Amino acid sequence: CGIVGYTGKRQAYPIIIKGLKRLEYRGYDSAGVALQQEDQVTVYKKKGKVADLEDSVGTSNVSSTTGIGHTRWATHGEPNDRNAHPHYSKSGKIAMIHNGIIENYAQLKSELAKKGYTFKSDTDTEVLLNFIEEIKTNNDCSLEEAIRIALKRVTGAYVILLIEQENPDTIIAARKGSPLVIGVGKGEHFLGSDASPMLEYTKEVVYVNDYELAIIKPDELILKNLGNEKITPYIQKLDLELAAIEKGGYDHFMLKEIFEQPTTIYDCLRGRLDAAAGTITMAGVQQYAEQIINANRIVIIACGTSWHAGLVAEYIIEELCRINVEVEYASEFRYRNPVINKGDVIIAISQSGETADTLVAIESAKEKGAIILGVVNVVGSSIARASHAGAYTHAGPEIGVASTKAFTAQLTVLMMIALKVGYMKGSISNDRYRQLLNELDAVPEKAAWVLNHHEHIKSIAEKYKDARDFLYLGRGYNFAIALEGALKLKEISYIHAEGYPAAEMKHGPIALVDENLPVVFVATKDIYHEKVVSNMQEIKARKGKLLAVITEGDETSKAICDDVMIVPEADEVIAPLINVIPLQLLSYYIGVAKGCNVDMPRNLAKSVTVE
Ligand code: G6P
Repeated sequence: CGIVGYTGKRQAYPIIIKGLKRLEYRGYDSAGVALQQEDQVTVYKKKGKVADLEDSVGTSNVSSTTGIGHTRWATHGEPNDRNAHPHYSKSGKIAMIHNGIIENYAQLKSELAKKGYTFKSDTDTEVLLNFIEEIKTNNDCSLEEAIRIALKRVTGAYVILLIEQENPDTIIAARKGSPLVIGVGKGEHFLGSDASPMLEYTKEVVYVNDYELAIIKPDELILKNLGNEKITPYIQKLDLELAAIEKGGYDHFMLKEIFEQPTTIYDCLRGRLDAAAGTITMAGVQQYAEQIINANRIVIIACGTSWHAGLVAEYIIEELCRINVEVEYASEFRYRNPVINKGDVIIAISQSGETADTLVAIESAKEKGAIILGVVNVVGSSIARASHAGAYTHAGPEIGVASTKAFTAQLTVLMMIALKVGYMKGSISNDRYRQLLNELDAVPEKAAWVLNHHEHIKSIAEKYKDARDFLYLGRGYNFAIALEGALKLKEISYIHAEGYPAAEMKHGPIALVDENLPVVFVATKDIYHEKVVSNMQEIKARKGKLLAVITEGDETSKAICDDVMIVPEADEVIAPLINVIPLQLLSYYIGVAKGCNVDMPRNLAKSVTVE
């Protein structure tokens, strides 16, 4: 889901369409635009891709210098033309787009229905829009005023953009919980869910905060809170180049992002880890060093792939820092009235920094007195801003819906945090600390080695692409890597895949094993290795197909496996960072071999801004 807007002297339609294409990676099922034209607001919308929208617009008149555009990821109402945004108000004079969910829409809808309103769509958006127009008519006030009044009644998350016939060059925007960036140009303004739609036009941006409303004209940007008080917009310089969001010769963004990992991991370490000097510089962690060292407990909150990074971190932080760590799904944590004691440290992990479940979870923990450290990729995002401190992962924009380089950057940051805290606390010896700094320093090179030896993974993918199910197994630090391998495969190829702790396999999944089931082990050399080899034998004895990620030179494992993916030797604490890479490639090549849309798998969204 994404939003785009433009007001200025240029033609709005091509800017909006290009912007929507840039936001395609976020996942969506329909698209639309609303344009201010001479004496009317014109809406075009269509189920499907932005290209389908363009086709349906055809040669219609799109001349306009102010407009808004939307890609929708269905929440209320199935994906079809009718439910696509923008929506018209009852009078047809206002058009609105919305990302998020209006939770009390049913109540508002029944109030409006009593007044004789009927609705053309099944969306919560159309309800909110008519609610706004009803207030405008009844109070005989401006649209801006009506929005302010309406939003005080709304619960849920939203970013909304509206244009109205009466004010032809004005866009009104408001947000709570969903992202909104305004690009400031000369005599023009751009709007987007992120900065990608405006990159080639301006590097000056304003991140709108929750409960703020923006009135945007070509030459003017007014920010207000819902109490109608003006706020000075804080203009920031964007540190992002156009090339970073383009495919750069790769077939897919996912492949490009997998191959970027030696660089992104390096970028993440750069300026922080100095192996020769034996230091890790992380200002955010330093700032809260006392609290972290003395924390009774660290709670890691995240969703999806980021949650897997949290699971790896749990093992590493407990090992190196001797602090109790719990890893929580943000959505579960938020709604079960968790016990938070003052002084608990929360680490929130999020690529996008906009995941609604994670955002609300940290906000409620903050209210209860916890310290929040954010491990976030997108600079200036909501979670980054809601955290007390943290560390950016510096992986650059991740466009492929399935997370790859953001995951390894998260692991890199979390490993640095664990090492720094362990060292400050004295729970790790100087020798071990130095050894692990060197190991971490060597990761970009080892990741590059894996990528340079990846060709055979393509043939492994060919061989197993028709399997109906996959099992992924690992122990210890590699348990979460097995989960991540399975998640990657199901996201990209729609093959059912399950990740399990290798030993726990005996208590259930082993029932699935037969000659048709590929079982992927993450079986690099570590303290569990012998036991993992026994688990592999148990699968082999039941005729399962054995695949494994193994350490270079491990001839024993190689001999019992049907196929192997080899990685260079690495310390067991650091190894997850490298071991995940062949599994990313395996899913990618299986997805491609099956003809799947690997960058935008069906039903998934890159940034889930609804709870
Ligand atoms: C979505 C994405 C996943 C991602 C998860 C958490 O489900 O498809 O790739 O891991 O959200 O996102 P975050 O931005 O918070 O890391």
